[in-house]
Formats: sequence, C-alpha cells, structure tokens
Amino acid sequence: MTRLSGVTPSGHITLGNYLGAIQRWAAEGTEHDLYFMSDLHAMTTSHNPGRLRSLATEGLAVLISAGISPERLFVQSDIARELGALTWILECTCSYGEAARMIQFKEKAKGQAGVRLSLLTYPTLMAADILLQGASEVPVGEDQRQHVELARTLARRFNTTYGEVFTMPQAVLPPAAARVRDLSDPTRKMSKSAQDTAGVVSVLDEPDLIGRKIRRAVTDGGSEVVYSPEDRPGLANLLEILAGCTGGSPADLAAEHTTYGSLKNATAEAVIETLRPLREATNALLQDPAELDRVRKAGAARASERGDHRLTSALRLVGAG
Ligand code: TYM
Repeated sequence: MTRLSGVTPSGHITLGNYLGAIQRWAAEGTEHDLYFMSDLHAMTTSHNPGRLRSLATEGLAVLISAGISPERLFVQSDIARELGALTWILECTCSYGEAARMIQFKEKAKGQAGVRLSLLTYPTLMAADILLQGASEVPVGEDQRQHVELARTLARRFNTTYGEVFTMPQAVLPPAAARVRDLSDPTRKMSKSAQDTAGVVSVLDEPDLIGRKIRRAVTDGGSEVVYSPEDRPGLANLLEILAGCTGGSPADLAAEHTTYGSLKNATAEAVIETLRPLREATNALLQDPAELDRVRKAGAARASERGDHRLTSALRLVGAG
C-alpha cells in the first residue's frame, strides 16, 4: 500500500492545511507514504514565478519541519518531464466532458475571462501524480475527492484498453471535523489563496499576529459557549481548532468556557503553542538552502525512478516509443 498526497503552493501553508492534513500525515506516516509540493498545480491561474519558487521551497521546509521524513518528500516540478508525458497520455484517455464536469473547474472558471486551459486539465495532472507513483490511497479533503475518482476511472480505462499498468487509487477522507474555516467568514474554508488574510492563519505567522486574528474571529449571536456547527459556525470553528490543537473534543471544550473571550484566549494560546516549534524549525531550515537542495535532488531521483517503469510501459502500450 502506498499513500500519496500533495500541497499546492498557491500561498503560505495555513492552519487548515496543518490541522486537516499535514499533522496527520506526519503522525500516521509509514515508510510507504509519499508527499509532495504540487507547484505545477499553482500555475492554473495567474501566478508570479519568483513567488511560486519561494513558496514551493518554503512549503517543503514546512513539511520537513512538521516531522515528515525527507525520504518521503519531493517537489512536483522536479519530475515535470515525466509528469508532462504521463499527463498527455491521460488526457488522451479522458473525455472533454469528464474534465468539464469537475466541480472545482466549474467554480473556478465561473465568470472569469481568459481561463487557462490548465484549469480544465488540472485533474489529469493530478491523476498523473497519483498513477505515476502507483499510489493506492490518496488522503485528501472532500474538495479533491472528485479528482481522485477521475484518476481511478482513468486508471481502469487505461488498464482495460491497453494493458495493466496502473494501481487503482482510492481517496481517503479525514474525519468530518477536519475542515478549518476562515475566521472572518466561517461559511468558507480557510484557504491559502484567500484575498483577505484577516481570517487566515498561516503556519509561519508570528504569535502576536495569530493572537490578533483569533481574537477578532467572527463569533455568532448569543453569549453562551456551545458546540453547534449548524447554527453557530464561527464558534464551532474555534472549538474545532482548539480541539485540533489540544486533542480534546469540541463539545467537552465548550463546557470548559463560559465566555467568548475565555474561549478565544485559550484557542489563541493553543494555536500559538502548536505552531511555535513548526515556525521555528521552518525558519531555521530556510537558512540552510544547501540542505533543502539536497532533499529536493534526492526526492526527485527517487520519485522519477519509482515511476519510470510505469511511464515506459504506458508509452509502449499506447504505441508511442
Ligand atoms: P491543497 O493544497 O488545496 O490542500 C492540501 C491539503 O490540505 C487540506 N486542506 C484543509 N483541511 C482542513 N481545513 C482547511 N481549511 C483545508 N484547506 C486545505 C486539503 O484537503 C488537502 O488534503 N490538488 C491538491 C494537491 C495535489 C494532490 C495531488 C493531492 C496535487 N496532486 C495528488 C493528492 C494527490 C491541492 O490543491 O491541495
């Protein structure tokens, strides 16, 4: 069994990415897991090349500092040639209708002028990420489940049409409460690419800034601290964040606080202390570009070698090479 997942450096890694994904990857990781910075995926909308490069390096440093073994890591663009070739084969296995049906494409393309073609083909690159490495389990949030389903459909179609090459992947979803919401607008998920960052905690934010963002978080009407995600989403978000940092249950934690102020102070404190070692280790690692470069090169060599026989077989079976 191989587990594989990625983070797209479309902005600084958030508390949501950490509590919903990275923390779990570090804790549950086995020697068969693979995690990567999916920098090629950050190019489907207007992007700045210098910022993309530095965010990919920063993200790699965060993943290492969170406790994921460097041997399990790589950066997507370091195997861009292999992924480009496999993406093409998968585009030739996928219908236009299947790609255009993706909810994320419909949402992101809506009302936009000059939509990049890559926004449509994004799931075939994601399928290439998964299928090249032979991943059987793909831990992702609900928002990415449809893309993993498409990767599964394409693997099955390729295997039955041309010959058995690819492992069938399956999405593995986190527990329901693993979705962290924006502190200023709890109807939205906390996102790296949000325009307004007042409600978004980056894992590298300084303690003062984290404290301010949490104390300004939107809470709902009423004054009682109760855990009720449907009617009190702002409050529930804070309780879930506190639970994610301390390990308690949101309902039990609600009973421990009588005022919003006390809950906010406890949440700010818990987030600051959870992120402090991660921020310090990441900042230290970013001072050592030679070490990061070494991790990248070794990761690229492993990922490329791992996928080589699948890419060679797939090219041969489709009649190319
Ligand atoms: P990305 O970068 O959007 O998200 C990375 C991981 O973080 C989780 N996540 C959250 N969890 C809880 N609360 C939030 N507010 C929150 N925001 C994000 C996501 O569910 C995800 O697990 N396309 C993928 C990256 C990718 C990939 C792949 C994943 C590229 N190729 C192949 C798996 C397999 C993405 O953009 O993730």
